[in-house]
Amino acid sequence: MEALNLRAMALMVIIMVTMMGNMAKSEQHNVGGSKTSWDPKINFTQWASHEQFHVGDWLYFGYGEKQYSVLEVNNASYVSCNETGFIKNITGGAGRDVFELKEAKTYYFISGGGFCYQGLKVAINVAENLAPSPQHSPKQSHSASDYCLINQTLVVLILVLIWGILFK
Ligand SMILES: *[C@@H]1O[C@H](CO)[C@@H](O)[C@H](O)[C@H]1NC(C)=O
Ligand SMILES: *[C@@H]1O[C@H](CO)[C@@H](O)[C@H](O)[C@H]1NC(C)=O
Ligand SMILES: *[C@@H]1O[C@H](CO)[C@@H](O)[C@H](O)[C@H]1NC(C)=O
Ligand SMILES: *[C@@H]1O[C@H](CO)[C@@H](O)[C@H](O)[C@H]1NC(C)=O
Repeated sequence: MEALNLRAMALMVIIMVTMMGNMAKSEQHNVGGSKTSWDPKINFTQWASHEQFHVGDWLYFGYGEKQYSVLEVNNASYVSCNETGFIKNITGGAGRDVFELKEAKTYYFISGGGFCYQGLKVAINVAENLAPSPQHSPKQSHSASDYCLINQTLVVLILVLIWGILFK
């Protein structure tokens, strides 16, 4: 009876660890580098070039200026700062807007109110998540398998530890 309970507990721990592993894979990116950097003073091209965006990640647009907003637009509207015919208005009103990157493609965001002309716009290049995709990109599948190996090793290690504690 008691052994059964311990096993159930161990199983729960395993499930939790696995879930935590999955959660760690999706990252939140503060656009511009901080919680208040959706600001025309930031060079977003430079910022984005140092970030790695993957499917499942989130963007956080933080700003204090009520006039700023966040619109998802297409490539042409990004280039010309065209505020009409946007894809999605992400503006929530509190200056804390979030957006999930759901596809491996380039997303474009601009501010309304003419601030796009001052540089308040960003292009986000999203890559596939680290799920294995062996047929297409050998380079990517290499790093993906490395990642899986590390992850699996970690899980096995934790399992051994738990087993050691519970069943010694
Ligand atoms: C932003 O940074 C990029 C890359 O470093 C540079 O090419 C570009 O001229 C900068 N843009 C502005 C507006 O300073
Ligand atoms: C817009 O699309 C064109 C053609 O697909 C591409 O060459 C260009 O780099 C894109 N612009 C930006 C800012 O990504
Ligand atoms: C802005 O985009 C909309 C929708 O795509 C289009 O109808 C309009 O002609 C564009 N305006 C300019 C000035 O390019
Ligand atoms: C986007 O939504 C915000 C908040 O609902 C609103 O104030 C703003 O006018 C909208 N922008 C556009 C371009 O529709």
